[in-house]
Amino acid sequence: MNVSRKLGPMAAACLAACGSDGDGAGGAQTGGAGTGGAGGGPAIVAQPPGWDDAVRQVQADDLDPDPRVLEVELVAEVAALPIVEGTTTPAWTYGGAIPGPLLELTAGDRLVVRFRNELPEPTTIHWHGLRVPADQDGAPHAEVPPVEPGETFEYAFDVPDAGLYWYHPHVDSAAQVGAGLYGAIVVHPGPDSPPEPQGLGDELILVMSDIGVEEDGSLRDPDAGGDLGTLFGREGDVVLVNGAQNPRVLARPGLRQRWRIVNAARSRYLQLELPSHSFTRIGGDGGLLEVPEEEERLLLVPGQRVDAIVTLDGEPGASIPLRWIPIDRGYGSSEFREPVDVLTVTLDGEHADPGPMPAITRAIEVPSLDGATAVEIALTQGKGPDGGVELGIDGVPSWEAEPLMAHLGERQVWTVKNEMDWDHPFHLHGFFFHETDAAGAPVEPRELRDTINIPRRESRRFVVAFDERPGMWMFHCHILDHADAGMMGMLHLMP
Ligand code: C2O
Ligand code: CU
Repeated sequence: MNVSRKLGPMAAACLAACGSDGDGAGGAQTGGAGTGGAGGGPAIVAQPPGWDDAVRQVQADDLDPDPRVLEVELVAEVAALPIVEGTTTPAWTYGGAIPGPLLELTAGDRLVVRFRNELPEPTTIHWHGLRVPADQDGAPHAEVPPVEPGETFEYAFDVPDAGLYWYHPHVDSAAQVGAGLYGAIVVHPGPDSPPEPQGLGDELILVMSDIGVEEDGSLRDPDAGGDLGTLFGREGDVVLVNGAQNPRVLARPGLRQRWRIVNAARSRYLQLELPSHSFTRIGGDGGLLEVPEEEERLLLVPGQRVDAIVTLDGEPGASIPLRWIPIDRGYGSSEFREPVDVLTVTLDGEHADPGPMPAITRAIEVPSLDGATAVEIALTQGKGPDGGVELGIDGVPSWEAEPLMAHLGERQVWTVKNEMDWDHPFHLHGFFFHETDAAGAPVEPRELRDTINIPRRESRRFVVAFDERPGMWMFHCHILDHADAGMMGMLHLMP
């Protein structure tokens, strides 16, 4: 691993053309294209030097010279990281860092991961949101057994779709993810991707999460709080942004920045606010939206991603906090809790004018509901044989459930009903889906999702078209404490 940034193709092109280091090279596809005026306009105005140093992510060395193949070595290992001042925490990491290395590809590229498990427990890697073959998806036992301690596994697949994704284990996942095992994957548009507008600004990729630690730095017991802890979903007390507590980034007043965020927390919902600023949300789980949406606050349930444009403005030297705001996702989840500053933006330099915001539109076709198979499931709470809390789908915990069935090419309309007093972020592996309203009309603006919040005592509907990737696919609540307590099922996609 190294910590130097590999430049995205656009930044590289800018370097060649601009003949300066145009700075801003921090972000993936940044560079002059983002911040300069159109040809003949003003000289390139960029974010301040070092603006994103505090949130830079580790990148993995590419072991394959073929530019269309990213081949990396990834080791899951315990590493002592400074989380609580004056102590270290034996975090569970990919490659010794939180988050694990940022994997950066172009749509159509191949990803090869030589994985080695140096943890004391079996594990797998799941590629959240990527349309991979079922046997590469990291679902333990469904297709391949988990990777035992000391063992290796090679994941290899093509990445078809531009967007922001992430990777995390799927064994004992509340504990493993909660202890630090996750990383981001950014897939840049390829020749066959919907074209991406230019001039969106320099880019930050932010992996947000939290971690439960004791005062002496040791990891909190992953089962702390017993059944109540399971029902609430355990949130870590320290919020991390790219592994750091409240890191500081710089912003040139008036310039746009593009923030691409992953919620990698085991249970925490992220409701984010920038005082006296708003967000233009341009993308979600599966790339760009049909049209952007103006939002006062961003909401990311566990597993979700957001792509948003922010224009920070004010007096040079002023600091603007990005705030986590408590959100009521059910009894006991927001009472007596305070906002938390998770990232600080300090304005630096003279006010600049980025020019008009480029138009962003994307044609998104929603599969027809005509002739689609109706599937209805309920998210349920019950009691296990020992009288403890057991969650399930239709009253059955994952370890006793029969798979649902679908055939290649089939379209299904799922109605997911939440019968509990807590919200559940519902995630389907391997396929994007489209939310529809009760009458079957697509929810606007259209977007491709892989995770959707199902509010307590309500239902949500979505339509999904299964493509040609047979096998066993998981679906579950992405409050990982809930998934581990049984709120998980399998879909068997058959020829
Ligand atoms: Cu990120 Cu099974 O999920
Ligand atoms: Cu849940």
